[in-house]
Amino acid sequence: MLKTIEWTGSAVRLLEQTRLPMETAYVEIHDEKQMWDAIKRLVVRGAPAIGVAAAFGVYLGIKDAHGAFDQRLNEVCDYLATSRPTAVNLFWAIERIRRVGAAAGSAEQRKARILDECLAMLEEDVRACRAIGEHGAALLASLRPRTSEPLNILTHCNAGACVAVKYGTALAPIYVGVEQGMQFHVFADETRPLLQGSRITAFELKENGVPVTVLCDNMAASLMSQKRLDAVIVGADRIASNGDTANKIGTMGVAILARHFGVPFFVAAPLSTIDFSIDSGAQIPIEQRDASEIASGFGRQTAPDGVGFYNPAFDVTPAEFIAGIITERGVVRAPYVAGLAALRG
Ligand code: MRU
Repeated sequence: MLKTIEWTGSAVRLLEQTRLPMETAYVEIHDEKQMWDAIKRLVVRGAPAIGVAAAFGVYLGIKDAHGAFDQRLNEVCDYLATSRPTAVNLFWAIERIRRVGAAAGSAEQRKARILDECLAMLEEDVRACRAIGEHGAALLASLRPRTSEPLNILTHCNAGACVAVKYGTALAPIYVGVEQGMQFHVFADETRPLLQGSRITAFELKENGVPVTVLCDNMAASLMSQKRLDAVIVGADRIASNGDTANKIGTMGVAILARHFGVPFFVAAPLSTIDFSIDSGAQIPIEQRDASEIASGFGRQTAPDGVGFYNPAFDVTPAEFIAGIITERGVVRAPYVAGLAALRG
């Protein structure tokens, strides 16, 4: 699997996801401004990856600080928190690093602890995604226990290895299932406007030998009406205490279609994506992105000048449409308030 994010010893090496699938390029990030820009421009993207990236961004921003360490730490943390608003992993990771950095000790000791924490996050991410994969693969296997035919899975956006350190979330059950001998055919929604599904999901599944078919977002109803889909699995940017889930724009429509056609719709996410401070999805801030992504995405004008554009990056799927949330601690079913709270431990 491609390495999405890696510490080189002096910089962070990121897979340049805006160039996929034509080019597998990497960029080195040396300071917090470059990291802010990489997160904003989706060079690194997806909830778990931007959390880990932001944590390293804090380290890069404080590693050369002399004097007024606390002030600098808070400045860098606050700055990186403005890069994107919806994925809660970003804030979860920054606050975790802020706490570690605020603990007693010399500036040099605190810098060393921050770096250790960032490295620990890399490891934890792999373990959490692997566990999501194991729980998810067992769940998928239970949907059609006696078949040797491939399971047909639809996904939206990219929640695979490119959004985490390894495995990813929504695609982790596929990767782990393949290791266990299961077979899949994945249908990847193209995912307008930035095509994370066709550019990234299709790319990484192909690289890993998993059969994949790309469809435009507006073809999902047609697919569901004609093809037997076993499940839909998507990732999440933020899950409220009641299970309402923010994910890439278009996800809610897929969930509603899945309900109509009787296809189980699952969300896969680590605990760091659950925001227990909010009661429902109505409180999730939704990122609005630049009109140019719709008007002239990928360098070609596709709408006339002088018209308005609506470009929210995420929508919120009400919990009632979600058949289960696959986490590293197991699959949670409705009622989600109790089920998710029980996971907190
Ligand atoms: O705007 P993006 O590409 O960062 O959006 C990513 C998604 O919506 C993913 O589905 C989500 O972050 C889950 S990734 C585990």
